[in-house]
Amino acid sequence: MEKKEELYEGKAKVIFSTDNPNRSIMYFKDDATAFDGKKKGTINDKGVINNKISSEIFRFLEKNGVKSHFVEELSEREMLVKKVEIIPVEVIIRNIIAGSLAKRLGIEEGTKPGEVIIEFCYKSDELGDPFINEYVARAMGYATKEEMDEMTRVAFKVNELLSKFFDERGILLVDYKLEFGRSAEDNGAVLLADEITPDGCRLWDKVTKEKLDKDRFRRDLGGVEEAYGEVLKKVTE
Ligand code: C5P
Repeated sequence: MEKKEELYEGKAKVIFSTDNPNRSIMYFKDDATAFDGKKKGTINDKGVINNKISSEIFRFLEKNGVKSHFVEELSEREMLVKKVEIIPVEVIIRNIIAGSLAKRLGIEEGTKPGEVIIEFCYKSDELGDPFINEYVARAMGYATKEEMDEMTRVAFKVNELLSKFFDERGILLVDYKLEFGRSAEDNGAVLLADEITPDGCRLWDKVTKEKLDKDRFRRDLGGVEEAYGEVLKKVTE
């Protein structure tokens, strides 16, 4: 499958069209951004590592009944995916309180909530991905009730599967963001899309609680490449 034209360039990936109108190629860059693009940098070989991590995770999810846009790993930095229209609602799952929720509630990072938390944000860099709820998403036409229900159902299923997957590999899945899309085939069926990588997940070493994700870049902790490499090693071993 050959790349045709660039359809969209995001902060960490570029999407290309292909000869097949129902397939796209996702190219993973080394560019890293944080705080809605205000902090910029590069993480050496991040694109290669994230393509491998995400491919491995999508394959694992597929085997366990979660449908995603993933078709196959094409090359070091390229993934063949089903063409989707991204639903502009980011779904955040939190198993442990950290990041913006810790700040918002004024509690210490690392606190375990009584239940798994799901949050929604409106996908807009300009607005800084503002927090919304299901009523806003529906009322503003970002997603239908059926789509919100499906995204919620799949997000909880992904969480059960991935919490165990990472736990078995010595990693605590703290929180993460999922994106979904409407498939160009199958009448717009909702598919898990985007990527599942240390760019969009908080991953802590289970024992030492060392951060193995983009917080190392966001918070200038150093050892960013090493942390991503460590996650790849654990995900593929
Ligand atoms: O910043 P916050 O604590 O709300 O992020 C929760 C989780 O969602 C983190 O793992 C973060 O990496 C991810 N996230 C993301 N993209 C966003 C917002 C959050 O990947 N736009």
